[in-house]
Amino acid sequence: MEQTQKKPRVFSGIQPTGSFTLGNYVGAVRNWPALQDAYDCIYSVVDLHAITVRQNPADLRRQSREAAAMLLATGIRPDKSIIFIQSHVPAHTQLSWVLGCFCPFGDLTRMHQFKEKSKKHPEDINGGLLTYPVLMAADILLYATDLVPIGIDQKQHLELARNIAQRFNGLYGDTFVVPDGYFPTVGAKVMSLQEPDKKMSKSDANANAVVHMLDEPDTILRKFKRAITDSEGTVRAGADKPGVTNLMSIYSVMTGKTFEEIQREFDGQGYGVFKEAVAGSVIDTFRPIQAEYRRLLADRAYLDGVLADGGAAAARLASRMLSKVYRKVGFVAPDALAH
Ligand code: TYM
Repeated sequence: MEQTQKKPRVFSGIQPTGSFTLGNYVGAVRNWPALQDAYDCIYSVVDLHAITVRQNPADLRRQSREAAAMLLATGIRPDKSIIFIQSHVPAHTQLSWVLGCFCPFGDLTRMHQFKEKSKKHPEDINGGLLTYPVLMAADILLYATDLVPIGIDQKQHLELARNIAQRFNGLYGDTFVVPDGYFPTVGAKVMSLQEPDKKMSKSDANANAVVHMLDEPDTILRKFKRAITDSEGTVRAGADKPGVTNLMSIYSVMTGKTFEEIQREFDGQGYGVFKEAVAGSVIDTFRPIQAEYRRLLADRAYLDGVLADGGAAAARLASRMLSKVYRKVGFVAPDALAH
């Protein structure tokens, strides 16, 4: 048989909790198809993670398929990458239990996202919210992942996964690959259009703060026109200009232009012209993705076929790692029983 070089593994996930945002796209999803040729990629719609916050069951079911369709529409190819729904592979929850026993409680309580979400949902600070990063560690470690393409907001969770892997390897010998993060140089944290010192977040109460990948062109234009900037009137990046810098980052990612080029392009022009150009670049990027998304979503048989195949392929890989871990910690293998 021909000897083929094994490609390094990529894993990432996204929650099916509503339509993806420009932040999801710029910080993470945009990079996923781009990695498909050089890496062995696995991408998951993480429905188990989604229920740490109450979800309407019918919506969650619909949104899980929509999330998969959107990932395919951005260019993920099922003949190159595995795409699947997290709850279809029970090994994620099984490994998560084991890893939880190797994760100090204090490490979980100091996670930024846990603190934020606990503040936001004081009526429902559930166990899943606390152990969420352990499940994320299981997602990553199950597949011997080398690289995790994510936005900056997930960096602390990745650190936790690395710590768990190192702790486990230290106790039981080399088991897990210790994964690295893959963060875009520009756009690793897209900010709110209304409060540019805050992350653009799906759950923002102010609809004008967030651009969604499924927004109509005129909605996108309106949101950018209303984006908060400053009174200086000059298109340049700087810590003192978070609004303009955020818009420049978005425009840079959409057009491939550097900050210097952007500054030159809008030299002497007001923010109005600049904002329209940013909106235009986003509209042009999303238009073909939206069309492909609608086409895929209408083809339920194809979409479900991709997810069924993806789930089966992921389950095969995951069960190997899970068996190895079970053996290392001392569980009796069912096929070792003399009967
Ligand atoms: P989630 O669903 O919140 O977000 C999906 C991806 O989008 C990125 N992102 C952003 N990037 C830049 N700017 C923003 N404003 C912005 N908002 C979101 C996130 O960083 C993320 O990469 N816990 C994860 C999902 C997950 C996962 C995993 C990721 C579960 N298991 C294993 C990687 C590996 C989450 O909630 O992402």
